[in-house]
Amino acid sequence: MLNEDWLGLKDHVIIVTGGSSGIGNAIIESLLAAGAKVVDADLNPSKLENKNLLYVKTDVTSKKNVDDMVNETVKKLGTVDGVVNNAGINIPRILVDPTDPDGKYVISEENYDKMFAVNVKSVFLVSSAVAKVLAEKKQGVIVNMSSESGLEGSQGASMYSGTKGAINGFTRAWAKEMGQYNVRVIGVAPGVLEATGLRTLSYEEGLAYSRHETVEQLRAGYAKTSTIPLGRSGKLSEVADLVTYFLSDRSSYMTGQTVNVSGGKSRG
Ligand SMILES: NC(=O)c1ccc[n+]([C@@H]2O[C@H](COP(=O)([O-])OP(=O)(O)OC[C@H]3O[C@@H](n4cnc5c(N)ncnc54)[C@H](O)[C@@H]3O)[C@@H](O)[C@H]2O)c1
Repeated sequence: MLNEDWLGLKDHVIIVTGGSSGIGNAIIESLLAAGAKVVDADLNPSKLENKNLLYVKTDVTSKKNVDDMVNETVKKLGTVDGVVNNAGINIPRILVDPTDPDGKYVISEENYDKMFAVNVKSVFLVSSAVAKVLAEKKQGVIVNMSSESGLEGSQGASMYSGTKGAINGFTRAWAKEMGQYNVRVIGVAPGVLEATGLRTLSYEEGLAYSRHETVEQLRAGYAKTSTIPLGRSGKLSEVADLVTYFLSDRSSYMTGQTVNVSGGKSRG
């Protein structure tokens, strides 16, 4: 039955990693509007102020930081009902570049380690800390922020595609392990969205180089929507609303899937 509290998220405690910018910030706004209590676990402070928002400075690649953040959440807010593994980075690099002996835009070991630490290891660290609480209360949801790149691959972003593919695997496998505790695990894979903090100049330079384009040509391509059936890029709120729905009992028979939100662009 549709009513004011249709989502039933009032006073639910949800941790959002990387909530101080872009998609994470939009997810927090959506959750606060639904009456949830939210923890923003980010390196940088939140721009939002709300009595139901707790910012905990966290480097999600550090086990100690993550464990402290989850402990602080339980101590201050009493429990955890769900988590959104949203923090992520993208360092566009290519596998090989025979034209450049210095390999400026070729994947280095350092790039690889950083990408996998932020995008993959963090998802394991945060999920394992939160899963203990959720398994004990026999209820909860883990949402993993994937990407169209993890489903389709992306030129100049193979490391990124690889990290997102890895967490799609976590989603499928953890759903099988956690179902017995009534804990659901779902992935969300956005396609082309309005700009976020991810789109820095060095990101654009790396991506443009990998695609044999100038940064200006790359930027002109953002507006090219002919490959998107809905003919436009997505709003951050459209991703946030889907995540909020997955955190609610309204999606109580969904687990183990990574659902794309890409205006029809990706196959899923
Ligand atoms: N923007 C897009 O078009 C898009 C598309 C598909 C998927 N995604 C995914 O959505 C998620 C959010 O991306 P966004 O575009 O909002 O990026 P963003 O850069 O705007 O936000 C990312 C947030 O993560 C935080 N963060 C980074 N490293 C961290 C660390 N080690 N510890 C804690 N916090 C850290 C940053 O401080 C930032 O607030 C990412 O997982 C990204 O891969 C984004």
